[in-house]
Amino acid sequence: MLIHSASQLLTLAGPPQRGDELGRLGIISDGAVLVKDGVVAEVGTSAELKVRHPDAPWLDAGGKVVMPGLVDSHTHLVWAGDRAREFEMRIQGKTYLEIMTAGGGINATVQATRQASRETLLAQTRARADILLSNGTTTVEAKTGYGLETATELRQLETLLALDQEGPLEIIPTFMGAHAIPPEYQGDADRFTQLICQEMLPVVKQWWADHSAGRPLPFVDVFCEAGAFNLEQSRCILETARQMGFPLKIHADEFEALGGARLAAELGAVSAEHLVKTPPEDIKALAQSQTVAVALPPTPFGLGDPNYTPAKAFLEAGGLLAIASDLNPGPAWCESMQFVIALACRYLRLTPAQAIAAATINAAAAVNRAAQIGSIEPGKQADLLLLDTEDYRHLGYRFGGNLVKTVIKRGQVVLSHPG
Ligand code: NIG
Ligand code: FE
Repeated sequence: MLIHSASQLLTLAGPPQRGDELGRLGIISDGAVLVKDGVVAEVGTSAELKVRHPDAPWLDAGGKVVMPGLVDSHTHLVWAGDRAREFEMRIQGKTYLEIMTAGGGINATVQATRQASRETLLAQTRARADILLSNGTTTVEAKTGYGLETATELRQLETLLALDQEGPLEIIPTFMGAHAIPPEYQGDADRFTQLICQEMLPVVKQWWADHSAGRPLPFVDVFCEAGAFNLEQSRCILETARQMGFPLKIHADEFEALGGARLAAELGAVSAEHLVKTPPEDIKALAQSQTVAVALPPTPFGLGDPNYTPAKAFLEAGGLLAIASDLNPGPAWCESMQFVIALACRYLRLTPAQAIAAATINAAAAVNRAAQIGSIEPGKQADLLLLDTEDYRHLGYRFGGNLVKTVIKRGQVVLSHPG
């Protein structure tokens, strides 16, 4: 298939974009892409490619933007129920941590998820996956962490594997048994940490070997935060996971700086997220490492909190920055990476070009897939979006709607919005 006549073909060609390189879109005017067997075969101008491939079926982009599929590198996609009541309570003045300490928050969703049948969990998660895809997300990272007991954590992994198999949305799973302290371990985070290290991680590893048909191991993530796991417990879980061969992620410095960002750099984590309260020395340590800093602007937005990740400081220190939704039933039920881009432009002060790179090639790096997705280059998966605009800056500039017209996953048109 030859997709031609893109006003702007955003290739995002080249490696993930560090520091002040962020925002290199690699634009080809009147661009075209040849797709073969689900993979990008050639990239160039429409004139060149039409001459070379007169017999390929043509898809006319109609003078609009063509870009790589958006990569949402941090979500809690798989849960049951909702927390609309807590949203109301937060508006009326309760804080996220107050609600969490009172047994609400993550543990409220844990209760609903433990009680949900396999079918309910699958159906509710699939509904969100469909919305992600229709908003242009072609690959999503998705965490467990609403089970906090072995059986329900495995059911969440099973749901993610099943949905990935159904497609077309590609799902990259993360085991996050260390998302919160469950009610039966309240006041004894050390004992729950032991349970994760001694029981859950080995069981997950074996279960994965038996059920995933040879896929790479999931990530292991920890919520390093006051009221969740302290630095020592986080280190214990991540070091154990690393020894077992799991790639690592960490939620760090969302509300309090506990040293999680530095730990991520030290342990060679693939990414560290939130990073709202990260002190300058830790920003520097992270920026000089290979770990991707992932800002989640829907979370402070959802909490009505004026504090956002100091993205500019990370870039000035030469760091690798990505942006993601943090999609979850608490502060950030956000299914649109287009909205994440709009928030990043306003609150992280990224230009549309920087935000787009942070949501594609750098987001691919945040899930260890920069060699397969995140840009339009020969040999990469043909995950593409046709937008309903001629100027890429409309991403970010406009918000609340959906500029995606057509979604192509592995070379197949999987969704086309009318009009
Ligand atoms: O990343 N911080 C921990 N986890 C989520 C919130 C999940 C929830 O409230 O259910 C986050 O913000
Ligand atoms: Fe999160």
